[in-house]
Order: sequence, then structure tokens, then C-alpha cells
Amino acid sequence: MSYNLLKGKRGIIFGALDENSIAWKTAERVHEEGGKFVLTNAPVALRMGAINELAKKTGSEVIPADATSFEDLQNLVDKSVEILGGKLDFVLHSIGMSVNVRKGRHYTDLKPDWTAKGWDISAVSFHKVMQTLYKSDAMNEWGSIVALTYMAAQRVFPDYNDMADNKAYLESIARSFGYFFGRDKKVRVNTISQSPTPTTAGQGVKGFSGFIKYAEEMSPLGNATADDCADYTVTLFSDLTKRVTLQNLYNDGGFSNMGVSEKVMDRFEDEE
Ligand code: NAI
Repeated sequence: MSYNLLKGKRGIIFGALDENSIAWKTAERVHEEGGKFVLTNAPVALRMGAINELAKKTGSEVIPADATSFEDLQNLVDKSVEILGGKLDFVLHSIGMSVNVRKGRHYTDLKPDWTAKGWDISAVSFHKVMQTLYKSDAMNEWGSIVALTYMAAQRVFPDYNDMADNKAYLESIARSFGYFFGRDKKVRVNTISQSPTPTTAGQGVKGFSGFIKYAEEMSPLGNATADDCADYTVTLFSDLTKRVTLQNLYNDGGFSNMGVSEKVMDRFEDEE
């Protein structure tokens, strides 16, 4: 159902790799709500070509940008303002990658160069994106910036590896930059802490299938899907959440406040 919540709003959506991507679902929902946007991803990800289908469907242009490159980001922001015909109202940062996770390196044995690369892509890129938007004065007042995160920033999930540290850093950037963006430009900055979701990045985490089932059984409402995340992001981009800022918002079916559920307890009953 569409409520025209984003009618007349302009933005940039980072991170739609394929139709499972949270950013892909978000682009579809933002389009349904009347928002116009530029799609972007790293040049190497664009080579897969799937994003062109999404661009066609949503009447969007695609501009390549490595989110760790200031040069690419400046070009992206300048061109987006030009193409969309004015300053921006919303930005979604939906980017994550850990070389250590990819290469199966254990947390107790991280390779510092790989850690630094993953940190730059997954966390510092959010600062670079906001820095570029801020210095270019590219956001409209009451605009909204959202990044996606995971609860391993607060609690231990052993297989989440160095992405846990990257997410903690990302959430801190949201608060720190959010202060200045709010004070100076009346722009809000939040992170959504999403349930495990079967995407390319999600499934890259070791033991993901056990992990997602466990979260499902622990959460009173079950895991939030990528579509649920898209809906939540639309509310944060809309004018209905104008003074929500500096928050880390859980979209997780209640998982983050659970100790244990009966469903999970039942699995241990026999052992008494
Ligand atoms: P995905 O694999 O579809 O998206 C990750 C995106 O990051 C890809 O589009 C990839 O091309 C992009 N990316 C990687 N390096 C980049 C670079 N240098 N410059 C620009 N873009 C780059 O996976 P998903 O799950 O949709 O991930 C989106 C966000 O959601 C990530 O921040 C992820 O950590 C977060 N998240 C995912 C969860 C899950 O279980 N899937 C749970 C909680 C948060």
C-alpha cells in the first residue's frame, strides 16, 4: 500500500546489489511512496548489471561510486543534485564488507590490513558520505540520513567477526555527525539495527543459517525481513519522524530485549 509519504522528496540509495539486498527493497518502497532517487554502488558491483533492472523499474539513474573515495562521492552528490533538480531529502547507506569474514580469518587472528579495509568500507565510508553532503550543503532542512547496522555492535556474536567492531564505529559516527548535521542543517541521522537477513552480505557470515533460525525463535514477532526494513526506512525518510535523530533503532521483532524464549528453552528441556 502506498501513502505518498515521500512525494516530492529526492535522495541517494547506496548498496543495491541484487534483488535480495535491503537497499533494493528500500528503493522499491521509496519509489512506491513517490520519492525520486539516484542509485549507486561500487563500480565492481555494478558490473553484475542487476541494478539496471531496478533503475528501469524505478525511473532512476545509476552513478558508480566507491564509498571510500571522496572523489567518487563528490561526483555522486553533485550529479545527483543536478539530475534530481535540487538538494536532497534522504540518503540510505546500506554498505558492508569485511575482508576477514570473506577470507574466513578468525577474530583472534585478524589481519590488520584487511581489518582496516573492511572498517573503511563498512564504517568510515558513512563519515565520508556525510562529510561530502555536509560540506556541499547538499541536504534540505528536515532531511534524513539512515545507515544499517547489526546488534553485534552491542553484544557478542562470535562469528560476526570484525564486522561487530565496524558496526560499533558506524553507530558512533551516526551520533557524532548527527549532532553537527542536526545543529547546523536540521538534518537527522539514525541507524537501523536489522534482524539477520538472507542477502549476499548476510549469508557471508559463518553459521548464518543457524544464526537466523535462532533469532527467529527468540523474537516474539519473528525476524524482520528486508521488506520490513524498507518500510521502517520509509518512515524515517518521511516527515512523520522529523525529530527522531542520533538513535540506533531496532527493527528485529523484539530480539534485542529478549533473555530467552520458550521456544528456545524447549530445546534444552530434555537435558535436565
Ligand atoms: P548486500 O550484500 O546486498 O549489500 C551490501 C552492499 O555493500 C553491496 O551492494 C555492495 O556492493 C556494497 N559495497 C561493498 N563495498 C562497497 C564500496 N566500497 N562502495 C560502495 N558500496 C560497497 O547485503 P545487505 O544485507 O543488503 O547489506 C546492507 C547493509 O545492511 C549492510 O550495512 C549490512 O551490514 C547491513 N545489515 C545486514 C544484515 C543481514 O543479516 N543481511 C543484518 C543487519 C545489518
